[in-house]
Amino acid sequence: MSETLANLLNETRAFPPPDALAADANVTAAAYDEAAADRLGFWADQAGRLDWAQRWEQTLDWSNPPFAKWFVGGRLNVAYNCLDRHVAAGHGDRVAIHWEGEPGDTRTITYAELLRLTCQAANALTDLGVSAGDRVAIYLPMIPEAAVAMLACARIGATHSVVFGGFSADALSSRIADASAKVVITADGGYRRGKPSDLKSTVDEAVARTDTVEHVLVVRRTGEQVNWGDKDVWWHETVETAADSHEAQAFDAEHPLFILYTSGTTAKPKGILHTTGGYLTQVSYTTHAVFDLKPETDVYWCTADIGWVTGHSYIVYGPLSNGATQVMYEGTPDTPNKGRFWEIVDRYGVSILYTAPTLIRTMMKWGEDIPAEHDLSSLRLLGSVGEPINPEAWMWYRQHIGKGNCPVVDTWWQTETGGMMISPLPGVTAAKPGSAMSPLPGIVADVVDDQGQPVPNGGGGYLVLSEPWPSMLRTIWGDDQRFLETYWSRFGAGANQGDDWVYFAGDGAKKDDDGHLWLLGRVDDVMLVSGHNISTTEVESALVSHPSVAEAAVVGATDPTTGQAIVAFTIPRGNIDTEGDAGEALIAELRNHVAKTLGPIAKPRQIMLVPELPKTRSGKIMRRLLRDVAENRSLGDVTTLQDSSVMELISTGMRSAT
Ligand code: WT7
Repeated sequence: MSETLANLLNETRAFPPPDALAADANVTAAAYDEAAADRLGFWADQAGRLDWAQRWEQTLDWSNPPFAKWFVGGRLNVAYNCLDRHVAAGHGDRVAIHWEGEPGDTRTITYAELLRLTCQAANALTDLGVSAGDRVAIYLPMIPEAAVAMLACARIGATHSVVFGGFSADALSSRIADASAKVVITADGGYRRGKPSDLKSTVDEAVARTDTVEHVLVVRRTGEQVNWGDKDVWWHETVETAADSHEAQAFDAEHPLFILYTSGTTAKPKGILHTTGGYLTQVSYTTHAVFDLKPETDVYWCTADIGWVTGHSYIVYGPLSNGATQVMYEGTPDTPNKGRFWEIVDRYGVSILYTAPTLIRTMMKWGEDIPAEHDLSSLRLLGSVGEPINPEAWMWYRQHIGKGNCPVVDTWWQTETGGMMISPLPGVTAAKPGSAMSPLPGIVADVVDDQGQPVPNGGGGYLVLSEPWPSMLRTIWGDDQRFLETYWSRFGAGANQGDDWVYFAGDGAKKDDDGHLWLLGRVDDVMLVSGHNISTTEVESALVSHPSVAEAAVVGATDPTTGQAIVAFTIPRGNIDTEGDAGEALIAELRNHVAKTLGPIAKPRQIMLVPELPKTRSGKIMRRLLRDVAENRSLGDVTTLQDSSVMELISTGMRSAT
């Protein structure tokens, strides 16, 4: 990447940890030294935080790269590590889940109860003919049964494939078919935006199109009328009547724990396969280290859905393996009002909050008055995940949610990495707003150029992971070749560059003058303007740093003179007047603001003021659709769009404001 990129983003602020947190932190700077001195020894120590039925003989077998085996010969049960051992240690009465339904109904589930429910579900699944190695699809709303279903599969060695409850029958049936699932666990529905949403008829449609499903296990959540077929059984008639004790059997460290499909926008979804020992080691350690989680006193809340990897690793397996008390919320952040999240933080005394930049920017758009109406003094640590977080969104999160005294940890990772990879350590790092900072202890990452050569500080290029890590994906389900091609053929041995295998993450990144890492979005999102590489993230951050802007999405549109030209879609903050001349004046001001912040090369050709942005259901901006708009094309595939009315809003909103 060019010189220009290195000069973009002049963020110089840095926020050291609060003294009290640093003094009592779970993990100190010594962890970096230990891992640097003996990386495998370091991971073996972290694996020792778990209970193993049989200790491993070899920490890593990398004799057939890039197919890794971690903790070879070791045996353990994931559910035992998440539940039984805490109960055995006398923590059965500790709350595991404070659950809150969208309509306001609540459930409090202790570790002892969660263990009983999981044992019942394990027994019921066994009675339905599920055994170790079988696949079970889970298509549920955010109710405790979602966690119970996952843990019950783990307990009996069945491999779960959770499919996000917002996905269509098409998406569900292709995932059921790809994994040959034997059982589907679903519900009559869930609550979203104040209304019961139907899940069961989607499952009926999906199951009818596949031929491996023997039973559909249905949780009654809404009580709405559902169609009933031969394969259907009620959860309350099977699970809740099953015996509530179950002896967990240990499985091999490399036993398949779950498959999770990444929602590719074009190609067939990839079934990312994660296994048992290495996965649990890394998600458990990173929960302990990055959230500084103290299970006796903290109340943790991750706002993700269980249908995404964040929900797998940082709602179910990471927090529960640490014996955490957590909040789980079923619904949307603005039902029944825009203060819902802050009511929840106040009610349960949430101390650690983990959410996504898209939500933070939405909260910014709604205005700081809303969080200001609630008592957020229980918070002591804030996390972010899912996308690059713009420095201004980071600052807003720190100031208006954390009141200036909570560390913000921006955690970079992927479905494929299974657990966090690059992040500040809250008791150690002086974090810079917008930077994920450094690889965690035991992780080796770098930024390389086109030829795979590491770039110097100040340079930009491609993010790579240069050493295997415990929670790495093991393959793409049923498609080793695609696994090799997608991740291992761009750099390193798989590309005939030297002997070392190098994982290509698909993200652009920059090293600042101190060597800290700045993630710049997917490499497909880098624009080439008059021969200069400019990242969409940096232009978006410049726009969001203007006081009139709540959110921005930038795309490169084909341009006859510059190759690509920068087109920005911008949502103004709530109180900003954009009618007529005021809109024109704001657009002119924003173009100059970007030019001033990043340099004239980054000045957008066009800025559109819009009321909404198109996002996938996991909150990522669909730049592809915006590119279609910017280039006056008809819209491509919109099936993964969260809200189908958004594109209409954008085209009408655009006309009135430009
Ligand atoms: C992609 C992975 C990680 C769980 C949720 C998303 C982007 C994720 C960050 C971050 C910059 C980030 C990357 C990555 N991403 N976290 N902190 N800073 N970018 O999982 O759906 O597999 O997406 O999300 O582009 O490659 P996913």
